[in-house]
Amino acid sequence: MSEKVDHRMEAPETVTPVPRRRFFQWVIQAAMGVIALGLAIPFVGYVMFPVFKRRESSWVDVGSRDEIPVGEPAQLEYVATIHDGYVETKSQKAIWAVKQPDGEVTVFSPMCTHLGCGYTWDRGDRKFKCPCHGSVFDLSGQVLAGPAPRPLDRLPAKIENGRLLVTYKEFKAGVREQSEL
Ligand code: FES
Repeated sequence: MSEKVDHRMEAPETVTPVPRRRFFQWVIQAAMGVIALGLAIPFVGYVMFPVFKRRESSWVDVGSRDEIPVGEPAQLEYVATIHDGYVETKSQKAIWAVKQPDGEVTVFSPMCTHLGCGYTWDRGDRKFKCPCHGSVFDLSGQVLAGPAPRPLDRLPAKIENGRLLVTYKEFKAGVREQSEL
C-alpha cells in the first residue's frame, strides 16, 4: 500500500500588519505620558521641597556694632526662624559677642561645648563660666578648665552697614571635633 501524499501547498506565514489606527493611539498615549511626567515632576518638587528645607538658617540682624563694648562680652538676642516643612517657628537665643579693638566681632554659640548648658560671663574674673560642670573659657573661647572638650563654638558673623548679622547654628556637644547638627 502506498501512502497518499498531500500535494497541496502549505500556506505561507502571513504577517499581520499593525493597524494604522492602533499605531497612532500608541503614539498619542506615549506623548500624553511624557507631558504628564513633565507636569508631575515640578509639582512633586513644589509639594515636597519644603519638607527637605528643615532648619533653614539665614542672616539675622542682632544689633548695632557700635553698641557692643570693646573687649567686654555682650549678650545679644538672636531671634531664630526655623522652617520645619511648612511650619515656621521663632525661638530666641542669647548669643555672646566680643568686639576687638579693630572693630571685628566674634560671636559665640550660647551653649557650652561640654553638654550644652548656657554659660555666663564673670566680669570680675573675666572668664566665661559654665554652672553645670565647671567649664571655664577665656575671652577668645579657649578652654581654661573643666570637662569641655573644645573651645566655645563660633557662629558665622559679618558686619553690614554697621549692623552685626549672625547665622545661628547648633553643634554636637561633648565631642572634641566641632560637628554641626
Ligand atoms: S555643660 Fe558646661 S561644663 Fe558641663
